[in-house]
Amino acid sequence: MAPRTNGRGVQVEDTKICVVMVGLPARGKSYIAQKAQRYLQWLSIDAKTFNVGNYRRTDAPQPSADFFDIGNTEGERRRRAAAEAAIADMLAWFKQGGVIGILDATNSTKERRKWVMDVCTREGIEVLFVESKCDNEEMIMANIRDVKTTSPDYKGQDPEKAALDFRNRIKNYEKVYKTIDGDGDESDYTYLKIMDVGSQVIINRIQDYLQSRVVYYLMNLHIRPRSVWLSRHGESLYNLNGKIGGDADLSPRGHQYAQKLPELVRQSVGGDRPLTVWTSTLKRTIATARFLPENYNQLQWKALDELDAGLCDGMTYQEIKDQYPEDFIARDEDKYNYRYRGGESYRDVVIRLEPIIMELERSEDILIVTHQAILRCIYAYFMKKDQAKSPWMNVPLHCLIKLTPRAYGTDEERWQADIPAVSTWRAKGSTAKHEDPTGTA
Ligand code: ATP
Ligand code: F6P
Repeated sequence: MAPRTNGRGVQVEDTKICVVMVGLPARGKSYIAQKAQRYLQWLSIDAKTFNVGNYRRTDAPQPSADFFDIGNTEGERRRRAAAEAAIADMLAWFKQGGVIGILDATNSTKERRKWVMDVCTREGIEVLFVESKCDNEEMIMANIRDVKTTSPDYKGQDPEKAALDFRNRIKNYEKVYKTIDGDGDESDYTYLKIMDVGSQVIINRIQDYLQSRVVYYLMNLHIRPRSVWLSRHGESLYNLNGKIGGDADLSPRGHQYAQKLPELVRQSVGGDRPLTVWTSTLKRTIATARFLPENYNQLQWKALDELDAGLCDGMTYQEIKDQYPEDFIARDEDKYNYRYRGGESYRDVVIRLEPIIMELERSEDILIVTHQAILRCIYAYFMKKDQAKSPWMNVPLHCLIKLTPRAYGTDEERWQADIPAVSTWRAKGSTAKHEDPTGTA
C-alpha cells in the first residue's frame, strides 16, 4: 500500500478526519465532496465519499417530497437507517486505514451533527464540518435543472414535475434546517462555512495541517465556466536525439509549432477572449509561447519544469539502460514511485504541482505550456487517472488539449497541429528513440 502522506510527502500515521457535509439540497455538497476526494486521492491521501442518498436509494429509490417531511415518521426512520449504514461503512473503512472519509448528506439539524460528532469522537476520528450555504434562487434553480432532474431519484420522470417535487423536498428540509453554529452553540466544532459559492467563508477552529489543506482547497473552488488548455513545448533538439531533460532549444519543426499555436488557441477558444499563459522556466516552453498575442499575460513557474532526471539528465533511454540497468528496470516496474538518482519521481512532481493545482482552481482560463511528465500529472488531476497508468500516458507533441470542468467530470477536446514531430512516448522495457504509440507503424 502507498504510504499515507499529508500532501507534502510527509507521512501521517494517525490522523483520521471525517469531513461532514452540511446544507440544504442542491447547494453543491456532492460537487464539493467529489472534488475534495479527487484532490486528496491525487495527492495519494486515502479518501472516500459516503453518500447517504445512495444508501437511501437502495431502500427508497424514488421517494416523493413528502418522504422528507419531518412529520413522516416512517420516512424519518428510513432516512436515519440510511445514515447509520453509511456511517457504519465509513467506520469500517477507517479501521482498514482510510484517512479522510467524506460523509455526504444534508446533516441539516443540530441533533444529526451532534450524533455524527459523538460517533466519530468515540472512534478517535476528527470531525470537520463543511457547510455550503446559498440563498441565490437563480443558482439553486440552475442546480435543480442541471443536476437534480437527471438524478436517479427522478429517472424516467417529466423534468418539470421532477423540478417541482425537488423544490418541495427542499421546503421540507427548510422546516428543520439550522445553519451550523447559527445560534452560537456549535462554536466548539471545527467547521468551514462557504457562503454563496465562496463569496464569503467562515473558518472555525481548524486543528491541524491536513484539515487546513482541505479547507484552503475548498475555499479556492469556484463554478464560473472556464477551461484549461494544455500543450507540451514544440519539438526540441533533445527530443530529436532521444535525450531526456536538459534545456535544449526547439527544433525547426518545434519553431513551426510555436508559430501555429496562436491559431490553434484561437480556434479552440472560439473568440478573442485573452487567456493567461503559464510556462516553465525552460527555454523550450518559453519559445513555444512567444508568438501568443500580447494581451495574453505570461507567467513562468519553476514548478512547471520537467521532471528532474538527476544523474540521467541528458541521456537517452538506451544510455540509462546501459549505465544504470537496475534503475531502468526499477523505473518500469513502478514508474510513479521511482525516483531518479539525484532527481525526482512522478510522486515528487505531484507534490510540487500542488500550488499549481490550487492556483488553477482559483483561476479562470489558463493555457499551460509545459513538459511531458508535468502535463501527465496535471491531466491526471482533472481526468482522475490512476497513478499506475498516468506516467505511461501518451501525450503527443504539437497537440493542444482543452479541458472543461463540468459539475461531474471534465470534457476534453484536442487539436493536433499538422506539423510532424517525433514521438517521445516509450513502452515499458523499450529503449527505442521514437516509437509509434499505436504500435501500427
Ligand atoms: P443533495 O442534497 O440533493 O444531494 P447537493 O447539495 O449535494 O444536493 P449537488 O448535487 O452537489 O447538490 O449540486 C451540484 C450543483 O451545485 C452543480 O450544478 C454545481 O455547479 C453547483 N455548486 C457547486 N458548488 C456550489 C456551491 N458552493 N453553492 C451552490 N451551488 C454549487
Ligand atoms: O522525452 C521528453 C521528456 O520530456 C523528458 O525530458 C522527460 O525526462 C521525459 O519526457 C518524461 O517522460 P517519461 O517519464 O516517460 O520518461
